[in-house]
Amino acid sequence: MNRRTFLVAGAAGGLALATGATAFTLTRSPARALAPWRDAGLSQGDPRLFIVEHAVLAPSPHNRQPWIVELLPDGVMVLYCDLDRRLPQTDPQDRQIVIGLGAFVELASLAASRLGLGLAVMPFPEGEPGPRLDARPIARLEPVSAQVPPDPLFAHVRERRSTKKPFDAARPVPPDAVAALERLSGGEVAVAVVADPARVATIRDLTWQAWQIEAATPRTHRESVDLMRIGRREIEANPDGISLGGPVLEALALAGSLTREAMASPESIAWRQGFEMYRAMLAATGAYLTVTAVDSGRAGQLAAGRAYLRANLLAASLGLSLHPVSQALQEFPEMDGTRVALDRALGVASPARLHMLARLGYGPAVPPSPRWPAGTRIRSHEPKPA
Ligand SMILES: Cc1cc2nc3c(=O)[nH]c(=O)nc-3n(C[C@H](O)[C@H](O)[C@H](O)COP(=O)(O)O)c2cc1C
Repeated sequence: MNRRTFLVAGAAGGLALATGATAFTLTRSPARALAPWRDAGLSQGDPRLFIVEHAVLAPSPHNRQPWIVELLPDGVMVLYCDLDRRLPQTDPQDRQIVIGLGAFVELASLAASRLGLGLAVMPFPEGEPGPRLDARPIARLEPVSAQVPPDPLFAHVRERRSTKKPFDAARPVPPDAVAALERLSGGEVAVAVVADPARVATIRDLTWQAWQIEAATPRTHRESVDLMRIGRREIEANPDGISLGGPVLEALALAGSLTREAMASPESIAWRQGFEMYRAMLAATGAYLTVTAVDSGRAGQLAAGRAYLRANLLAASLGLSLHPVSQALQEFPEMDGTRVALDRALGVASPARLHMLARLGYGPAVPPSPRWPAGTRIRSHEPKPA
């Protein structure tokens, strides 16, 4: 293993961890980058603006926010992937990117229900792209009058987080919460909770092994380093990727000692701390949630993203936290052995496909993550949000 690269990744993860709740609250908060959380739904007029302003709050891998929405004159929305926002090294089949787009679709549907509208969703209206995505649309979304009651999960949109923190491993997930989460299964996807201590221990080992493999593989690690936003100014300028903010990091960045190059130094305290913090965080896990599709097609990826988003909101409503740990699912060759071992541990066999693995438990409150404003993600000749 390339020790240098390995440790850099530790720094990355650790710094990301260090930017939790304390970071944003103690320092000059990146107010503009967080404004979309506050402003969602403020635009008047076209209901599609209300819908998109909520949908951009969806989770996505490395917070890439790969969505572009075209507003057509006939009231339809067409969802595209911004192909420049993919993660070719860690997500060589664009599978995780489609899952993020699925989460966007589900939030759009929930927001439509808040307006009493249905959302007719046609996945991949011009066919499923493969082996990678192309310029064809991801989904056609049409708000339709349907006297739909508001979906109760909509109430939790602003509370939803990916909680990148240690969980209280001594506090088990209650059986009724497990049952409620598993009831999200249906159609093309199964949602399951793993809480059996022996199986949890096996998966925990695999997530840590996978994290180290990604970190030790120079090109996959580089992909994360390139997406770091260091300090408030960088976060405000690019409210996506891996945000490294907070008072300590801000001071180090201003002093010039927190740079991408510095994070590559095995002498840096940050990387050593980061490595340990990540190990401790992954270890502090008492249960996992999985989302598995019946086959490996694109529609299943989109459906998995929709189901994961519902699980994330339902967990929030129950006071539970979720944190995706995706490394062991990734398709670059160095991960093959670990991915196969994970499938075996979870009993997933082809043609079924495991799409999400997330830590589940009781974690601390964390702040929202940055977002590009909805208006920057809309392509149209029609009114845009301010
Ligand atoms: C498909 C997918 C995979 C993800 N994988 C990881 C992961 O491996 N590690 C991690 O810390 N977060 C992961 N995330 C969470 C994103 O980092 C997170 O959604 C993003 O930073 C925005 O933060 P938020 O969910 O709190 O709004 C993943 C999210 C998605 C949708």
